[in-house]
Amino acid sequence: MTNIKDIKNNVLRDIYKAKSFKDLQIIKIRELGKKGKISLLMKSLSTVSNEEKKSLGKTYNELRLKVLDTLAVKEQDLKDIEIINKINNENLDITLPVRSGNNDDEGKIHPISRTIDSIIDIFANFGFTVETGPDIENDFNNFTALNIPDDHPARQDHDTFYIKNEVDENRKLLRTHTSPVQIRTMINKNPPIRIIAPGRTFRSDDDATHSPMFHQIEGLVIEKEVNMGHLKSLIKSFCEDFFEVEDLPVRFRPSYFPFTEPSAEVDIGYSKKGNSINIGKGSDWLEVMGCGMVHPKVLINCGIDPEEWQGFAFGLGVERFAMLKYGIADLRNFYEGDIRWLDHYGFSLQGVPSNTWSKFREG
Ligand code: PHE
Repeated sequence: MTNIKDIKNNVLRDIYKAKSFKDLQIIKIRELGKKGKISLLMKSLSTVSNEEKKSLGKTYNELRLKVLDTLAVKEQDLKDIEIINKINNENLDITLPVRSGNNDDEGKIHPISRTIDSIIDIFANFGFTVETGPDIENDFNNFTALNIPDDHPARQDHDTFYIKNEVDENRKLLRTHTSPVQIRTMINKNPPIRIIAPGRTFRSDDDATHSPMFHQIEGLVIEKEVNMGHLKSLIKSFCEDFFEVEDLPVRFRPSYFPFTEPSAEVDIGYSKKGNSINIGKGSDWLEVMGCGMVHPKVLINCGIDPEEWQGFAFGLGVERFAMLKYGIADLRNFYEGDIRWLDHYGFSLQGVPSNTWSKFREG
């Protein structure tokens, strides 16, 4: 009885000092194994009087339970240390570039991401920065502020996915275009402004040439002295850079958008040879984007004085640009997630521009 305390202290000290699972195992066998010290103490109970059995039995059992408990705690400590050491010693640098070579497992960049990245890169050269906005917008940013009030016929053109809630300017919807990012930027930033806004957009439309989810890139410039001439030369330079065609024929056709005045549709020249399209000089025109001078009402809605500032805006469909540049025939292929298609049309990770779209994408 007298040395129970000593035994306990010794065993617990040994457990605390143990450095490995093997050390713990040795202590466990030494104390609790068939011939272990504590096991023998328990066995010795059969030789003592009933009276002693009661009190000694309790003491030995408490000792046994304490040792088991301490072993379990120490085992967990050792496991934790093992994990921490593993984390500290494993130096996996996921920022390292992929090794080049014929690596079939190498991921590919989707043509949509690639197209957005190249467009961002071109506009970065013209001094534009990137802005993003949420996919779920309110009615005000998507329509009202853009001079499309509730009773405006243009609302019908947008096949909007509304989210069921109150019908007012806070009504939520899936944005039908990237133009609400213009509004957000003009409300939150002081001019001069020179931004592009890539992102997902949504319309209730689904066939070979329409998908309910698609991508747009919006552009907005607000400065003191800008006019349609600046807009035209910027768009022309951009189209030439993107399609890598010098002297690309670009035509501005009068059009209508509620948020721009005057408005225009942009066409680029192309010729057809059999089934393939050749962008450049030719007898045909392809419509590629919408643009115009920002309507004074839109500036006023965003707290900008139209007497002092003017601006222009443009919007383009990313899928259309990707299809034209990379010769992709069917819009639906973009979203099917077929790895064979991506292997064929995707881009290697080598030479990825620094301003990647994923950097700006909202989670
Ligand atoms: N938001 C328009 C659309 O989705 C495109 C556009 C943007 C037109 C900016 C003019 C100016 O159709």
